[in-house]
Amino acid sequence: MRKPLIIGNWKMNLTVSEGVNLVKSIIDSGVDQLKVDYGFAPPFVALSEIKKYLNDSHILAAQNIYFEDSGAYTGEVSADMILSVGANYVILGHSERRHIFKESDEVINKKVHQAVKKGLTVVLCVGELLEDREAGCETETVLRQIALGVKDLGPDHMKRVVIAYEPVWAIGTGKTASKDDAEAMHRAIRGFISKLYSENIAKDLKILYGGSVKPENIKDLMSAENIDGALVGGASLNAESFVKILKFYE
Ligand code: 13P
Repeated sequence: MRKPLIIGNWKMNLTVSEGVNLVKSIIDSGVDQLKVDYGFAPPFVALSEIKKYLNDSHILAAQNIYFEDSGAYTGEVSADMILSVGANYVILGHSERRHIFKESDEVINKKVHQAVKKGLTVVLCVGELLEDREAGCETETVLRQIALGVKDLGPDHMKRVVIAYEPVWAIGTGKTASKDDAEAMHRAIRGFISKLYSENIAKDLKILYGGSVKPENIKDLMSAENIDGALVGGASLNAESFVKILKFYE
């Protein structure tokens, strides 16, 4: 069985001390006893400080990396750098990277290769625009993003990829995909990975849902067979709501 996985993506929010206080209050509420893997994706500058409050069972994710090892790339951060401060995951291909910072599928694919080569687990984000859904091409769009994102990735490396389905129209809007719509997409993704790799890799693949996940909708979403967890934005910035999300099965 796939163990549930829930990650809070803080995006460009919280100072280092605000982040530390948030993490401390979440961990102090006893969530480590829950049957869920969880963790945080703070901004780069907070990674090393947040790591001090985590143990090996927690996930510490960076929100991005660059695909080169090092060099003259002003403003960029490498895989080795985030590894050196204790990160074990990296979020790649987030819709905000794709749309605001114009990251192409090709660039995202290079980053995926670099991350898994360095031993990081990748959360590869995919998701359609509202216009794709209205045109009925949401599945095609998402599967194309996956095919290009994991292009030329061998099966052993694919085992270190988690996919996050985040419909762009549901991010930060308060609109959530219905459980049935999300489940249909997650099932299509698993079927696609099964064909692209193998049934075993598809069976073990964790597929997270993201887009206005809140304490009020997490239980319903998590009851779907192919929804293995969540990538939470806004509701992860508050200890009370994130803890309620982690306790989704209560
Ligand atoms: P919200 O939960 O704020 O909609 O953000 C979702 C998201 O983009 C997580 O990566």
